[in-house]
Amino acid sequence: MLGGQILHGGDYNPDQWLDCPEVLEEDVRLMKEANVNCVSLGIFAWAALEPEEGRYEFDWLEKIIDRLGEEGIQVVLATPSGAMPHWLTQKYPETMQVQADGKRNLPGKRHNFCYTSPVMREKIYQIDSALSERFGRKENVILWHLSNELGGNFADSSCHCELCQEAFRNWLKEKYGTLDNLNRAYWSTFWSHTYTDWSQLHSPAPHGETTMTALTLDWKRFVTYQMSDFVRTETAAVRTHSDLPVTTNFMYFFKGLDYGKMRDDLDIISWDNYPFWHKTKDEVPVAVRAAANHNIMRSLKKQPFLLMESTPSAVSWREFNPIKRPGMHMLSSMQAIAHGSDSVQYFQWRKGRGAYEKFHGAVVDHKNGSNTRTFRQVTELGERLRNISGLVDGTVNRPKAAMIFDWENWWALEDASGPRLDISYIDCILDHYQAFWEAGIDTDFLNMDDSLEGYAVVAAPLNYMYKPGYAEKVRRFVEGGGIYVTTYFSGIVDDTDLCFTGHHPLADVLGLEQEEIDAPSGDFPNAFRYGEKEYPAGSLRELIHASEETKVHSVYEEDYVKGEPVVTEHRYGKGAAWYIAAEPDMEFLRSFYGDRLKEAGVQNALGTDLPYGVTVAERMGSDGRSLVFVMNFRNEAVTVRGTGKWADAESEKTYDGSLMLGAFECLVLRK
Ligand code: GLA
Ligand code: ZN
Repeated sequence: MLGGQILHGGDYNPDQWLDCPEVLEEDVRLMKEANVNCVSLGIFAWAALEPEEGRYEFDWLEKIIDRLGEEGIQVVLATPSGAMPHWLTQKYPETMQVQADGKRNLPGKRHNFCYTSPVMREKIYQIDSALSERFGRKENVILWHLSNELGGNFADSSCHCELCQEAFRNWLKEKYGTLDNLNRAYWSTFWSHTYTDWSQLHSPAPHGETTMTALTLDWKRFVTYQMSDFVRTETAAVRTHSDLPVTTNFMYFFKGLDYGKMRDDLDIISWDNYPFWHKTKDEVPVAVRAAANHNIMRSLKKQPFLLMESTPSAVSWREFNPIKRPGMHMLSSMQAIAHGSDSVQYFQWRKGRGAYEKFHGAVVDHKNGSNTRTFRQVTELGERLRNISGLVDGTVNRPKAAMIFDWENWWALEDASGPRLDISYIDCILDHYQAFWEAGIDTDFLNMDDSLEGYAVVAAPLNYMYKPGYAEKVRRFVEGGGIYVTTYFSGIVDDTDLCFTGHHPLADVLGLEQEEIDAPSGDFPNAFRYGEKEYPAGSLRELIHASEETKVHSVYEEDYVKGEPVVTEHRYGKGAAWYIAAEPDMEFLRSFYGDRLKEAGVQNALGTDLPYGVTVAERMGSDGRSLVFVMNFRNEAVTVRGTGKWADAESEKTYDGSLMLGAFECLVLRK
C-alpha cells in the first residue's frame, strides 16, 4: 500500500488559483478537515509550469508541495502532456493530432497530441525530466501520474498524421517481414486489394479503407504500441532523477487502447470511475458495470489498484447528472476498496470558477466552504478509510472464478460484418458477469494471454477470436479439472481475423462442431428448456452438432431447428466444457452459473444466497487474513440470512445467523 494508508484526496489544480493565496491556504486547512491525505498535482499545468518554451516556473509548485508536506499530505505528481499550451501548438503544429479524414486538429481541448511526433516527445521529455530533477526525491511525492486519460474520450483517439503512417508501415514491416505474408494474413486478394508496395498501406479512414478487418485490427494494435512507446518516453524522463513508481489513469471500458498490453509499462494500475448512479431506481446494472471495471483493473496486475478519479457528487457531462443520493458516496467508494482499490481519489478537490468543468462535482464547491453535504460525506468517508487502512493493507482479492475479457477480441468482434451489426461485447460480458456478481462471486477478468491456472471456473462469452496458444491453454485447463463455459460465435477467427477451417479449434474439448449462426428478427422467436424452466433463445442462435459423448442439456423448442442442441456439456480430462449456443437472458444465466459454481464448489464468502442488490467481495492477506465486504445497492434495508457467525471489522459488533444492512450500506466483516 502506497504510503501505508488508503489514499484519499484527488486532483488538485492550484494553478487555476495562483492569484488567490488565501484560497490556497484555505485549501490546505479544508483538506485536513476532510481527512484528505493525498492529492494529484500538475495534471493540466503545462502552461503554468512552462509559460514559454524552455522557461520553467516551478517555484509555485514547490511551495505547494512543501506546504502539503508540512501537513502530512502526499502528492501524486503528474506530467503535463494531457493538455498542450498554445505556444507549443502554435510553434509546432505537427504536435497536434490528425483525424482519420486527414484533417489536422486546431489547438484547444486536450488529450489530442500526436504521440509519434519527435517534437512532442522532445518537449515532454524536457519538462518531465526537469520535474523529475526538482521534485523526484521530495519526501511527500509518492507516485508519477503520466499524462491523463491517454487516448482521450473520442470515438477514434488515434493520430493519422504522416509520421504516424510511416511508423505504422514500419511496425507492419517488423511484424510481417514480407508483403506476401501480410497479403495472406489480410486475405487481400478480396476486392483486389493486394498490396504491392509498403507505401500503399494507410490507416483505416472514412473516405478510404474501412473494410479490411485485419488492417483495422493491426492499426488498433499499432496505436497501443505507439502510445506505449510514448509512455516509455515519459517514464524514462521522470526516471532521470527519481525511482518512484509510475502510473497513468485508465478509463471506463475504453476501447481505444489495449490496457492488457500497456500494463507491463506501468508499476501501478489506476483508473477513473464515473458510474451513472441513480440513472434509474435499480442500481444493480450500474453497480455490476462498476464492479466489472474494478475487477478488470485489478486483474491487469493481480494487485491492488488505485481509484484515481471519481466524483464526490455529480458529473457534468451526461445528458442529466444526478447527484449522489445519501449513502451512495460511501457505498460506491467502499465498492472500489472491496474490489481491490487502495485509494479513493476525486476529480476534483475544488470547483473552478470558469470554463468547461465549472459545474462538475468537487469536494469544495463555489460556496459554503466545508458546510456542504458533499464535504461532510467526503469527510466521513475519509475517516472510515483511515480506520480500515491497517486492515486493508497487504490484502487483495483472489477469486476462484474468471472471465475472459480481451481488447483484441472486442475490436475484431465488433468490426466484423455479420452476423449482427449491433453485437455488443461489453453488454454480453456484463450479462454473464452479473450472474457471478449476484451470487457474490468475485471474478478476475483475464486477457487471452493470461494464465488460467488456479481458477475453478472460467467463462468466455463471445470469444470470437482465438489468439495463438489460447486453445491449447483452455485444453490444459479443462483437462486439469477446470469448468470452462463458452458461447455461440466463439472460436471463429485467428488473430488476423482469418476464419478457422475444418474444425473448431476446441472441437475435441467442447465435443461439438458449429455449423451456422442465425441472427433472426423478433418475429421468429425460439426457446429452450434448462432445468425446470423455459428460456427465450435470443437474437443469435447457432446450429451446432454435438458429439456422441456430449451431454445435451437443452434443445431448441421450435421451428426448423427443433430438437437441435443449445446447452451442452462435454467431460474432458478431469474437467468439463460447457457451450451455450443461443443468446441467453439474465434469468437463464443466473440459474446456469449457479449450477456451475455449485459443481465447482465455489461459494461466496458468506456461504448463503444473497437478496437482489446485495453482493460480497473478499480481500485476503498472504497471512490468511480475510476481509469480507457486504454491499447493499438497494435504497432500502435488507436482511441476509444463513450467514453464520461474523465480527464487524470496524466495531465491536457481532452477527449470528443473519445480517441487517441499511439502504446503500456496506459492512466490513471478518470471521
Ligand atoms: C476525466 C478527466 C478529468 C475530468 C473528469 C470529469 O476523468 O481525467 O480531468 O475531466 O473526467 O469527469
Ligand atoms: Zn501523428
